[in-house]
Amino acid sequence: MTSTTASHAADLVAALLFILSLAGLSQHRTSRAGVGYGIAGMALALVATIVLAAQSITAGAVALIIIAMALGGAMGLWRARQVEMTQMPELIAVLHSFVGLAAVLVGWDSYLEVESHGSAQTRIAADLLGIHHAEVFIGIFIGAVTFTGSIVAFLKLSARIASRPLTLPGKNALNLGALAAFAALTIWFTVSPALALMVAVTVLALALGWHLVASIGGGDMPVVVSMLNSYSGWAAAAAGFLLDNNLLIVTGALVGSSGAYLSYIMCKAMNRSFISVIAGGFGIEAPSRGDEEQGEHREIRAREAAELLAQASSVVITPGYGMAVAQAQHPVAELTRRLRERGVEVRFGVHPVAGRLPGHMNVLLAEAKVPYDIVLEMDEINDDFAETSVVLVIGANDTVNPAATDDPSSPIAGMPVLRVWEAEHVVVFKRSMASGYAGVQNPLFFRENSSMLFGDAKQSVDAILQALVDAGPHASGPAAQQTAAAG
Ligand code: TAP
Repeated sequence: MTSTTASHAADLVAALLFILSLAGLSQHRTSRAGVGYGIAGMALALVATIVLAAQSITAGAVALIIIAMALGGAMGLWRARQVEMTQMPELIAVLHSFVGLAAVLVGWDSYLEVESHGSAQTRIAADLLGIHHAEVFIGIFIGAVTFTGSIVAFLKLSARIASRPLTLPGKNALNLGALAAFAALTIWFTVSPALALMVAVTVLALALGWHLVASIGGGDMPVVVSMLNSYSGWAAAAAGFLLDNNLLIVTGALVGSSGAYLSYIMCKAMNRSFISVIAGGFGIEAPSRGDEEQGEHREIRAREAAELLAQASSVVITPGYGMAVAQAQHPVAELTRRLRERGVEVRFGVHPVAGRLPGHMNVLLAEAKVPYDIVLEMDEINDDFAETSVVLVIGANDTVNPAATDDPSSPIAGMPVLRVWEAEHVVVFKRSMASGYAGVQNPLFFRENSSMLFGDAKQSVDAILQALVDAGPHASGPAAQQTAAAG
């Protein structure tokens, strides 16, 4: 078997491993195996690519590739060890930007190679040059949109820029105009390639990527991250065509299509139009700012909250990003245990986009050993709030915002939320009156039945625990009294 045949066989095995990896990652139980398949597939793909490349490049070039891989690998390991779980989406956004940049560089390299050597000395047949030029243009376009789009997503997710949507006048016309200009430039470039056209398409796509993601509001960022994941896949597939690398085409298509499907599922869960989100908020005109205060709020102290809880028959806890920041999951689990000992029914309501990554709250609650059977999804708990004595909103904001259902002009209008305000009492744990990730003020804070418990969520829950201990071990809530009477 020649090394070329061996390399093609390895590509096939690597592609199968990537498919097994995706299948494994689709379930909790098999996710570790899924990661293992992915690592094995990537290791095999790298070895196969280097072995094949070694036939046509010098030993010095192979050494350079290995040094670059060692440096990149060491930096990747270092970052992955350092990153907090709340920073995962921004890390993923940065990684997508690298894929986009790589696709742009591959496109430019491919164009310059043909320009400097002529098609005769490259592997491209003269009658296929037009197709090659179109590939170059499409690869650069997708790569550059992914590059700047991912940088804006990183800046928004890491709060370096405001998450509020940018609404330039005629923003939909700007996006459509950029797409039309791209189509016209591609035809022009295919007929008569020129450096100026390369520069024009790169600048156009960089600006479009920036504008597309800047135009999307904070509440829709989870969809944007999975959408950029999809774009980075298509950018990699485009680079695969230019490099004549079948495995890159297959892998790019896997990432592109799975990312697109994930975006579609998330849009459905959040009641968003898929087309509108991928087209940079297409059809959504300037929403109201919605960050102004809306009345008087009431404050509550930890001791009073503990009294409220001790009298409650049912409690629902809705955790959010603030619980992750405060690392309050362990005291929250302890509070749950104590209240249940007192005969209070305690359950959790988890919104699909609470926190900063899919399943964020479930992972934290599992880590703190909260029983699975009391952790419910939004749709499972939403109808029960009306019969709930106390809701503890721990570091959540956008996911419990009534403006999403009541105010059609709100930037988060239409997004399904936890209807916590239907409960008898709502206690909101946060440090200030600041808005949530979407930058929208929350009318929940000003409702008659809501009280604000200001401070770091971990310290507040610890203080409630202490107050419950001080009040003594005896059950005092109505549920406990019923249990005692029945006993
Ligand atoms: P957010 O709306 O982000 O609000 C979190 C709240 O926690 C803030 O209002 C903040 O208020 C409070 N907080 C922060 N640190 C705290 C601390 N140490 N102690 C107490 N409170 C603290 O949270 P959410 O309800 O979970 O909503 C998630 C948002 O992120 C949604 O808009 C979602 O679209 C977006 N998003 C989600 C994802 C995924 S996949 N889950 C990915 C990207 C973006 P203070 O500053 O006043 O304390």
